[in-house]
Amino acid sequence: MALPSNPRVGLVGWRGMVGSVLVQRMQAEGDFAQIEPVFFSTSNAGGTLPAAIAKFAKGERKLLPATDLDALGACDVVLTCQGSDFTKVTHGPLRAAGWKGWWIDAAKTLRMNDDAVIVLDPVNRPLIDAALARGVKDYIGGNCTVSCMLMGLGALFKADLVAWMTATTYQAASGGGAQHMRELLTQMGTLNGTVKSLLDDPASAILEIDRLVAERQRTLGPEETKNFMVPLAGSLIPWIDADRGDGTSLEEWKGGAETNKILGRGPGFTAPAVPIDSICVRVGAMRCHSQSLTLELKKDVPLTEVEAMIRADNEWVRFVPNTREATLRELTPVAVTGRLQIPVGRVRKLAMGPAYLGAFTIGDQLLWGAAEPLRRMLRILLER
Ligand code: HSE
Repeated sequence: MALPSNPRVGLVGWRGMVGSVLVQRMQAEGDFAQIEPVFFSTSNAGGTLPAAIAKFAKGERKLLPATDLDALGACDVVLTCQGSDFTKVTHGPLRAAGWKGWWIDAAKTLRMNDDAVIVLDPVNRPLIDAALARGVKDYIGGNCTVSCMLMGLGALFKADLVAWMTATTYQAASGGGAQHMRELLTQMGTLNGTVKSLLDDPASAILEIDRLVAERQRTLGPEETKNFMVPLAGSLIPWIDADRGDGTSLEEWKGGAETNKILGRGPGFTAPAVPIDSICVRVGAMRCHSQSLTLELKKDVPLTEVEAMIRADNEWVRFVPNTREATLRELTPVAVTGRLQIPVGRVRKLAMGPAYLGAFTIGDQLLWGAAEPLRRMLRILLER
């Protein structure tokens, strides 16, 4: 079954951070010209469309209630960035009521379901196409860290060269949400304010500045650390998401489980899972997730071949020569923010032996990490 022309696409969560990036990207790529968008709201149903989105409307010019299963069920596609809570209360009842439309979602709720595909089409287009042919209707964006890593290193997995991989991540504040970004910046300002007069005086003692900053960090109040729970500015937090009770965080578990599912490996597939494990760390970056990767390859592949494979994999990956100059210029969160490019650098053989490879990659977690795979899934449906 294909979509009708000018399909009715229900957008939920378009006002949030990921949703706003999604709308920007859909506008930039002309996606709205091919659909009839219907905008849903959890808080302002019945309200008129804000100017920022009213220009995309064709028929429906009011915000529809995101709780209204009939209104959602009248859509050919529901595209949601509203988060897990919305998915939990809406998806099941909508399907139970017989809705046969396509559900495209950024939340984790459905990702590991047997009848859902994690979408990252530059990496797993064959899997997506096979699922569409089977009549699968739920297409879910992956964890941001996983998607950004696979956009960079996917070539090595596709060639079945990876025996195992471990990552140390450096994840941006935006992964927690908009309030987390604000909290980080407020903490930065607070710390700066604490020592501003000393900083302005070149003769002041750095250890006194350091002492005052540490004291202020340790006395930040509950309001100042409401989102991250501990200071992030001038620090880091080596735990992301829930404690699974077995020594791993949920974010670390997703790294292995979702990567393998995207690649069509592990439970439910014939190919065995590639062991992937990580330590996930929150750092004071704004919206780019970085990762330091160690891989054991199944054989000794010359670096020139590794480079050629990475370069050729997709049109967004950028191979960064392993030099100080190129790394400082191209391989930082600041260089990548707001861009679709996925740089991969620091690629070199490690001291452990010729099959061991080190690499560093960065991705904007709101673009390839969240919005982009969703809008591309919509385009795949439109172009069938
Ligand atoms: N869980 C990720 C993070 C973001 O906290 O950075 C969404 O995948």
